[in-house]
Amino acid sequence: LMIVIDFGGQYNQLVARRVRECQVYCEIYSYKIDIEKIKAMNPKGIILTGGPDSCYEEGAATYSKELFKLGIPVLGLCYGAQLMQHLLGGKVERADFREYGKTQVEFDTNSALFEGCKPSSTVWMSHFDYISQLGEEFVSVAHSDNCPVAAFESKENPLYGIQFHPEVLHTEEGTKMIRNFVMNVCKCQGDWIMSNFVEAQIKAIREKVGNGKVLCALSGGVDSSVAAVLLSKAVGKQLTCVFVDHGLLRKNEGDEVEAVFGEQGAYDLNFIRVNAQERYYSKLKGVTEPEQKRKIIGEEFIRVFEEEAKKIGAVDFLVQGTIYPDVVESGLGGESAVIKSHHNVGGLPDHVDFKEIIEPLRDLFKDEVRKVGLQLGIPEYLVFRQPFPGPGLGIRIIGEVTADKVKIVQDADAIYREEIAKAGLDRSIGQYFAALTNMQSVGVMGDERTYDYAVALRAVNTIDFMTAEAANIPFEVLNTVMSRIINEVRGVNRVMYDITSKPPGTIEFE
Ligand code: XMP
Repeated sequence: LMIVIDFGGQYNQLVARRVRECQVYCEIYSYKIDIEKIKAMNPKGIILTGGPDSCYEEGAATYSKELFKLGIPVLGLCYGAQLMQHLLGGKVERADFREYGKTQVEFDTNSALFEGCKPSSTVWMSHFDYISQLGEEFVSVAHSDNCPVAAFESKENPLYGIQFHPEVLHTEEGTKMIRNFVMNVCKCQGDWIMSNFVEAQIKAIREKVGNGKVLCALSGGVDSSVAAVLLSKAVGKQLTCVFVDHGLLRKNEGDEVEAVFGEQGAYDLNFIRVNAQERYYSKLKGVTEPEQKRKIIGEEFIRVFEEEAKKIGAVDFLVQGTIYPDVVESGLGGESAVIKSHHNVGGLPDHVDFKEIIEPLRDLFKDEVRKVGLQLGIPEYLVFRQPFPGPGLGIRIIGEVTADKVKIVQDADAIYREEIAKAGLDRSIGQYFAALTNMQSVGVMGDERTYDYAVALRAVNTIDFMTAEAANIPFEVLNTVMSRIINEVRGVNRVMYDITSKPPGTIEFE
C-alpha cells in the first residue's frame, strides 16, 4: 500500500494513477488524516501532493513532523516538497515570478529518484513559492535556471522532494521518476491487480448499503454497466437498475441493453426499462443551445428516476457511473474550469428522493474501468464498447433534436460502426461516431438537386479522454462509409471527417 496525502492540488488523482500504473495499490487521504491512522496502515511509502497554499502562511495546510520520522519513505511533490522543507529546517519563499509550464531541468542521475533518467529533460512546473534554502540533512539533486532546488533528497533518511510535477505527462520522464520512488525507494512489489479493487469495492459497498435499497442509473455505456455489475455482485436484488430509453441511444441499443441486463440476462438484479422517447423529444423541441440541451436531458433523467423510485418505494442509494475525467471536467476536481456539465456529475436537483449517491468508479480512469469490467466477467464486447455520453445523440445532433434527425444519425452511425468493425479498427480507435451537423447544403443525386444534411464522422485516439487526437482511418474505409451513408440514409448528401484534436476541439460536438 502506498498513501497519497492530498493537499488540494490539481493533479492529485493523477499522482495516484501513476502509482497504480506501477501495479501498486494506492489510496488518497486528505492532509487532515490522523497520523495514527497512517501508522496503522503501515504504508510502504507516502507521497505528499501539491496544493494551493503557501506553507509559511498562517492556516496553511500542514502535517505532523512525526511523519518524517516513521522510517517510511516520503516523497513531496511541489507543495508537498515545500512543506517538507518548511517543517525540516529549510526555507520556502515567494519567488519574484511564477514558474509555470514546460521547463528544462538538470538532474543528478545518482539520486535514486532519477536513476536511468537523462541528465537534462523537460518537466512541468507550476509554482509561485520556491525552496530558497534546504534543511541540513538535504541536498539538491536537480535544478533549473530559475529554481536552484528542483528536487532534493535527504542524506540520512528516505525523504525526497520534487518541485515540479512528475505525475503530469508533460514531464518527459515523470513516470519513470515516480516508478523509481515506488519500486526502488519504497520497494513495492508491483503485484496489485484490479481484482483487489473489485474486492475492496464490493466489501465497501456491502458495508455502506447494508439492507438498503439501491437504484442504479443504467445507460448501457461502459461506465454505468460496470457500476451496475459491481453493485449487483455486492448486493444482488437489493439493486434495481432503471434503464431510461430516452430516444437518444444508438441504433438498436435499447434492445441490446435489455438483452444483457434484463430478465434473460446473466445478472442478479431487477431491471426496469422506461420508454421515455416521446417525453424527451417534446422537452427538447425548439432547444438548440448545447448546455441547455444537456440540462434538459439531465433533469428529465432525474424526473424519470424519481417517478420510478416512487413506484419501487423508499430507495436509499442512487448509483452512478461517474468516472474521474467527468469529475475533473465538470469543475469538481480542484481548480479546473467547467468545460461541459457532464450531467451525471454533481448538480442534482434538491428534491431528489435518494439519501445518498454511490459512485464506485469515481476515482478511475476509463482504461481502469475496463479492467474492472473484465475482472467482473462482463462480456468483452460490452467492456470494450465505446464510451457513450449520458445525453446520448442529443449532443451529437447539432441544434434542435427531432425524431427524424435522431433516425438519420442512428442510421449513419450504425453504418460507420459496421464498417470500422469490418476494417478491424473497432478495438484500436478510442471513440468514434457519426454526428449530424446542422448544415444543409446543395448536392446532386441521380439527376436531381438535393438540399440535405451533412453528417460528420468523428474518430479519436485517447488514453484518458482528457486529450485526444483524430484517428488515422484509411481513406478507403472512410470512402466506403461515405458512399454507404449517402446511399442508405435518407436526408444526407454530404459526409465529412473531423480531424480536430482535443484541445482545441472536444470529442463530442457539443
Ligand atoms: P468531450 O466531448 O468532453 O468528451 O471531449 C470526453 C468524453 O466524455 C464523454 N462525454 C459525456 N459523457 N455526459 C457523459 O456522461 C456528458 O454530458 C458528456 N459529454 C461528453 C464523451 O463521449 C467522451 O467520451
